[in-house]
Amino acid sequence: MNVIHNKNALDELLVEWRHNDEHIALVPTMGNLHPGHISLVELAREHAERVVVSIFVNPTQFGDGEDFDDYPRTLERDKRRLQKVGVDAIFVPDVDTMYPFGLEDATTVSVPRLTENFCGASRPGHFDGVTSVVARLFGLVQPDAAVFGQKDYQQQLVIRHMSQDLNLPVQVITGETVREESGLAMSSRNQYLDDDEKQTAASLYEVLLSAGTELQSGKRDYERLESDSVERLTELGFTVDYFAIRRAQNLGIPDRDCDELVVLTAAHLGDARLIDNIVVTI
Ligand code: PAF
Repeated sequence: MNVIHNKNALDELLVEWRHNDEHIALVPTMGNLHPGHISLVELAREHAERVVVSIFVNPTQFGDGEDFDDYPRTLERDKRRLQKVGVDAIFVPDVDTMYPFGLEDATTVSVPRLTENFCGASRPGHFDGVTSVVARLFGLVQPDAAVFGQKDYQQQLVIRHMSQDLNLPVQVITGETVREESGLAMSSRNQYLDDDEKQTAASLYEVLLSAGTELQSGKRDYERLESDSVERLTELGFTVDYFAIRRAQNLGIPDRDCDELVVLTAAHLGDARLIDNIVVTI
């Protein structure tokens, strides 16, 4: 397994792989890998002969007062995990490799509208940071495919939009959310929760599922369903950022006939901000 820190070393590998007509799938991560990431790596493997995992805690997607400094960095453990699943390369760039003109003069890629609400509203600038770093990673690694997790539902839609709009020659693939036995979606930020909070956190998925059941059974008063769910979560101790029922395809407001919905939520519990979602096909 190659561990690469700079563009030259990456280019050497890419030339060799391209020379052999091998396809490349990229799994962009910020490290602190858990089984959710590993499932994305396995999915990537189904789409290409070569799999690259990038590990970069991207400063531009964290707002003031967010957890950039505290974000768990566990490179040695991540390397061991990736060695076990057999990736071809880990790309661990430093800030200068990712932003060669410096952060002040860096080009920003920005997707409007789709980033206005939900996590975009609660975390101003976050998605500009995400799209800008993912566009850079696509430029550096030149993958045929790139895999993102469904847990960050809005993120994967935003990245799909960017790739299509800019005609980037990358197939964007979304991998299913991997959950703890309790139902809690796996996330690096779960480690901010203590044991009691972890138990409570599992209810986020339960509340999503019960909204899903109501939708399946024909309920169409979306606003009511949203406000009831917020009330339930608040009673359980969450501070709800948003709980919304939207069109799965583009997060637009659904009419009564919409048959592909996403129920998405973000809520604070203790020191953690948790996000989760389910897609409901009717
Ligand atoms: O989902 C993440 O971990 C990050 O937002 C990503 C896609 C690696 C970009 O930094």
